[in-house]
Amino acid sequence: MHPSNIGYQITFFDTPVSEHVVNVASVPQRSPFRYPGGKTWLIPCIRQWLTSLDKRPSVFLEPFVGGGIVGLTVAFEGLAEHVILVELDKQVAAVWQTILGGEAEWLAERILNFDVTLPSVMEVLSLEPNDSREEAFRTIIKNRTFHGGILAPGSALIKNGENGKGIKSRWYPETLAKRIRAIECIRDKITFIFGDGIAVMQDYTRSNHTAFFVDPPYTAGGANGKRAGKRLYTHHEIDHEYLFSTATRVVGDILLTYDDSPDVRDLASRYSFEVKSVAMKNTHHAKMTELLISHNLEWLH
Ligand SMILES: C[S@@+](CC[C@H](N)C(=O)[O-])C[C@H]1O[C@@H](n2cnc3c(N)ncnc32)[C@H](O)[C@@H]1O
Repeated sequence: MHPSNIGYQITFFDTPVSEHVVNVASVPQRSPFRYPGGKTWLIPCIRQWLTSLDKRPSVFLEPFVGGGIVGLTVAFEGLAEHVILVELDKQVAAVWQTILGGEAEWLAERILNFDVTLPSVMEVLSLEPNDSREEAFRTIIKNRTFHGGILAPGSALIKNGENGKGIKSRWYPETLAKRIRAIECIRDKITFIFGDGIAVMQDYTRSNHTAFFVDPPYTAGGANGKRAGKRLYTHHEIDHEYLFSTATRVVGDILLTYDDSPDVRDLASRYSFEVKSVAMKNTHHAKMTELLISHNLEWLH
């Protein structure tokens, strides 16, 4: 385990201050991605939220799945009967479609048999994949050899990775194969949809047995923030007003997470949601904060 993953501490603001040390050993890394904006550190809150509900949700819907750590954890831990994941990025979608569509073993073997060198990676990147599983493989290669795992246009290969290991510094083929094979084992619990997350949300707004976890692309801070959002995701433009107007019609349970900014607080308040800010510090003193938004946040203690 990377040292920065040890000793997570979560502090909740805006409430009587309570401190909460998360046992990171209880958050298994299950995603095949390293994902910008990934929410591994929110997993303890997600567990708290879902176990506080009167009834286990029939459906857990994640309309902006990205690296999928939340939906995967829900499926592995049986926190809902079925999990639906949605993603609009074709490269990311190819990975989910391949793993959940019966080609997990192919992908695991392809990864295990690939020797990562600068020329071999350049070759994979130069060829247009001719099917979705080759696209999935290329996505994994990019995600592991590009700075920050960023797949959006403008991202670049890692030159000097950890310990001078260069482009190999994030390449852990056995771990990837293991995670992919593990997901394959529970694939009947997960449905993946390649498409627009808000459109899929619309189909479930009237289901009171559905729980929604909504983590859309959003970067606060005017023009600079917009540039940052563009740097991280190929699809970074979302109509947040429309998303909130959809979220407010949900009769099931919904938890949204956003960067904490005055604009988002304003949106939440206009649609009568509660908000609480959550912060996490790791041992490298990097601080991450998020705004949790829901109809009821009493379970967050
Ligand atoms: C903040 S990231 C989600 C990170 C995720 N929670 C995780 O832990 O890895 C937002 C994701 O939404 C995707 N996205 C953007 N627009 C979308 C849309 N209209 N429908 C579905 N997904 C979309 C982006 O490609 C990105 O993967």
